[in-house]
Amino acid sequence: MTFRFVRSALALMLAATALHVSAQDFPNRAITMVMPYAAGGPGDTITRVFAGAMQKHLGQQIVVDNTAGASGSIGTAKVARARPDGYTLLMIHVSHATNVAMYKGLPYHPVDDFEPIGRATSGPMVIVTRNDFPARNLNEFVAYVKANGPKVSLAHAGVGSASHLCGLMMMNALNVKLNEIPYKGTGPALNDLMGGQVDILCDQTSGTVPSVKGGKIKAYASAGKARLPQLPEVPAIADAGVDGFDINISFGLYAPKGTPKPVLDQLTSALQKSVTDPEVRQRLEAMGISAVSVDQARPEALRNHLKNEIDTLGGLLIKAGVKAN
Ligand code: MLT
Repeated sequence: MTFRFVRSALALMLAATALHVSAQDFPNRAITMVMPYAAGGPGDTITRVFAGAMQKHLGQQIVVDNTAGASGSIGTAKVARARPDGYTLLMIHVSHATNVAMYKGLPYHPVDDFEPIGRATSGPMVIVTRNDFPARNLNEFVAYVKANGPKVSLAHAGVGSASHLCGLMMMNALNVKLNEIPYKGTGPALNDLMGGQVDILCDQTSGTVPSVKGGKIKAYASAGKARLPQLPEVPAIADAGVDGFDINISFGLYAPKGTPKPVLDQLTSALQKSVTDPEVRQRLEAMGISAVSVDQARPEALRNHLKNEIDTLGGLLIKAGVKAN
């Protein structure tokens, strides 16, 4: 048994002991929750709701970190590299599943390098345009898009993001190719839509519903089979006879692989208290988003959800021949 072997074994034991000791008084300092999309977007809005609620239940400040770019993979990699002590967390949605299919040489694996804590939310999407888009209703919208395809710009938050997937489903369903404009998040994309710099965005409801109600943008359809309760006058895309297009976005919370079980249990418990917190549920509902039920706010449920999205949506992108690099 060489001196080097003994030394590295000792180092490992000390690191594990240190992690074990720190788990006993977790949390004793501020926690960072990474939301890997730009500030002001749906991901940021949802993350701030849960950061506020979970800090109440954990008794420690939770700071939101918007390290954005490359469809969320830059911020995600930051959490994968972080010390597995519970002080660096990741709130993310479908792109955690799609990035592994999109990016060659991704510096992490979405399943192997993370500990799931639990699902947090689920919500629909809506197709919106700049206010002066030349269509009076959904049928005219479909006709205009089909007639002008590549001249029409479609904003999204990068390949594999929710807004990209929704845009891709719309292009497939209408059999058109639009001029795609990527952003670091749909917060900045929505600003450009309100400014008339881009034509179409398919986004979650937190930012779009208030902007539609405020008369700043136009909504043509919910991206699914059902109308949105917040926009009852807006049809569902299925109402225009457009099939095979029903998308729902779910956010979940993760920690780096190796985070001690007692710490994960505390985080799951705080997440479960947050999804049942009436104030949290009310704030989300006002934005057209649902907090999941308690049995979904646990590791197993998120693990299964992620695996399912990797198989289905990752597969959809590969079939469509979409690549990030
Ligand atoms: C965001 O938070 O900006 C969105 O969730 C990005 C996306 O469309 O996936």
